[in-house]
Amino acid sequence: MNYPQARPRRLRTTPAMRRMVAEHRPDAADLILPAFVREGIAEPVAISTMPGVRQHTLDSLRKAAAEAVAAGVGGIMLFGVPEEAKKDAVGTPGTDPDGILQRALRAVREEVGDDLVVMSDVCLDEVTDHGHCGVLDARGRVDNDATLLRYAEMAVVQAEAGAHVLGPSGMMDGQVGVIRRALDAAGHQDAAVLAYTAKYASAFYGPFREAVNSSLKGDRRTYQQDPPNAREALRELDLDLAEGADMVMVKPGLPYLDVLRRIADVSPVPVAVYQISGEYAMVEAAAERGWLDRERAIEETLTAFRRAGAGMVLTYWATEFAQRLRAAG
Ligand code: PBG
Repeated sequence: MNYPQARPRRLRTTPAMRRMVAEHRPDAADLILPAFVREGIAEPVAISTMPGVRQHTLDSLRKAAAEAVAAGVGGIMLFGVPEEAKKDAVGTPGTDPDGILQRALRAVREEVGDDLVVMSDVCLDEVTDHGHCGVLDARGRVDNDATLLRYAEMAVVQAEAGAHVLGPSGMMDGQVGVIRRALDAAGHQDAAVLAYTAKYASAFYGPFREAVNSSLKGDRRTYQQDPPNAREALRELDLDLAEGADMVMVKPGLPYLDVLRRIADVSPVPVAVYQISGEYAMVEAAAERGWLDRERAIEETLTAFRRAGAGMVLTYWATEFAQRLRAAG
């Protein structure tokens, strides 16, 4: 018997050894907490499809932001949910300076100042009565260029309300460039753009629909990327960079780790990944049934993103996980 001399198991012998040789570990500063704020509610509202996540009031949102700062979280990404009656075909609440997202931005900036990177969703789906990410043409199709005009206006209103980073998530062609030019023209040269570069038409967005009281019937397949395609993510990356993206993102996370890796390998700007509602719900639901170890599963998914090349991770577990890192010292 020739016993092996090379024994990879030596590096797995003790927790201290494993910790020392670990190539990747999630860090609180790289986590970004997506948060929902809903207009017209007196108390936070639970989201049944995302156990543990709530639609915030302005007050509870402030608390969540302060908690994130205390835990060392890097950023927060805000989504606004307007009163149903205010939604219309062009998404007026999205450009109203007193729209819920703008009020939330002001509240959070007042609460945390610059201690947290404050980001906001530049998209129409939360504010339109048809639930699409853009405005519709006469035949009911999402009109790319008419939508760009709305995004430009939204981005400026959000920057005015205090967003450090604008996150256009609608997958309209040219959205980053139009937003960049609008921000610059309005004197917001320092407001950064986080491009949703590779955003796929995914079934895993399901639980998010309840989180934002979505009005959508149908799907987003004419604007979000088709799941079989990875090559076109690189084309989207080239376009976003040329249009001035400061950071880029891949979304969803786990089903698209290959896309994340390909983008991380070539991107000259920081790369984020969005662990979306369905990814969150899967782990929570299985854990609730006792089918997997919740804490280990969460850590493993967050580690996987780092291993696949993400510098930043948007996750609904951001604060909880950052707190866990603190407690572990
Ligand atoms: C669009 C948007 C969506 C998500 C973030 N921004 C929904 C969609 O594209 O259908 C999904 C986030 C999640 O599922 O956690 N504004």
